[in-house]
Amino acid sequence: MNRTSTKVGGKIPAQPGPRETKVGSVAAAAQQESAPGATPGSVIPGAGPALRPGERATVRLRDTGPDEPPRYAPEWLELREPADAAARAHELLDPLRIRLANLPGKAGLVIHDLGCGTGSMGRWLAPRLDGAQHWILHDRDPYLLHFAAVASPRSAADGSRVSVETRRGDVARLTPDALAGASLVTASALLDVLKREEIETLAAACTGAGCPALLTLSVAGRVELTPSDPMDAEITEAFNAHQRRDGLLGPDAITVACEAFSERGATVRVNPSAWRLGPGEAALTAQWLRGWVGAAVEQRPELKQRAERYLQQRLAACEAGELRVTVHHSDLLALSRPTGGAS
Ligand SMILES: C[S@@+](CC[C@H](N)C(=O)[O-])C[C@H]1O[C@@H](n2cnc3c(N)ncnc32)[C@H](O)[C@@H]1O
Repeated sequence: MNRTSTKVGGKIPAQPGPRETKVGSVAAAAQQESAPGATPGSVIPGAGPALRPGERATVRLRDTGPDEPPRYAPEWLELREPADAAARAHELLDPLRIRLANLPGKAGLVIHDLGCGTGSMGRWLAPRLDGAQHWILHDRDPYLLHFAAVASPRSAADGSRVSVETRRGDVARLTPDALAGASLVTASALLDVLKREEIETLAAACTGAGCPALLTLSVAGRVELTPSDPMDAEITEAFNAHQRRDGLLGPDAITVACEAFSERGATVRVNPSAWRLGPGEAALTAQWLRGWVGAAVEQRPELKQRAERYLQQRLAACEAGELRVTVHHSDLLALSRPTGGAS
């Protein structure tokens, strides 16, 4: 696994990002950083791709080759961060705190955040845990790691220091050795983009290292739109099929993860963590709608004409403040049997 370290609180490294980037200006920075060759306007920076014939409806920042994994636009991650923060299951924090408080040694927590994106999980969780923390942020996308390092959390709930380093690599190939000394593994909006064997590898790494895991915001495959429309169910079904393409787990991820951790001796708890989007979240809702319908049409191209009409109506209702959307997710806490190796 490649490894890059970044000092917390430092200026943004000269490359690849602009200087003096703040969390709030991630979108502007990304705009500035469009890759050479990317056509302005050809990619909607968020969940909703602008589909061209034959193009995959993935969340993309810029053009990638056919074998390259999709890349996530920092604007999209920024847009969803407040809804994610409001949705995550607070009920899982107390059992987690108890486990962490009972860890041997008092050297501080070492937390690995897998598929960290721009680091929203750390910004949410670090100030909710006591004690010094060192976060190791993993992602395969160096561009996102760059934003994560710059906008890292600084202090814990009790004011203790929080430090951060970034590691570039494939989290689906994590080993127990890579988690040696880890107090906790976290992830957010990651499990549903993995395959069964990748989640099994992840569960084996966590349980092998005796490390608890807080894996938040996996899609549940259910959405509710108010007012309802006869096409809601059809789009949902096509979207879910799209999520399951090429062996990805999509809405099955949470069940597979529960099984994978339980079979390896962990105690597993799952709580709901739905996005509840109203007029105050219109920008996120609109972008989510574009991505949701776009993926459904990619999966079932015969829906295209009706889906375009549906999308326009939904966007108009959203803009008028007349649409409410609940997107169901699940959070999972897996408490592995301690092996004595955790810090
Ligand atoms: C939906 S984004 C979520 C990002 C972040 N956790 C958040 O909640 O905002 C999924 C992230 O996982 C990363 N990712 C997906 N599969 C990965 C893999 N196999 N190895 C490393 N990173 C991966 C992507 O690059 C992306 O940053």
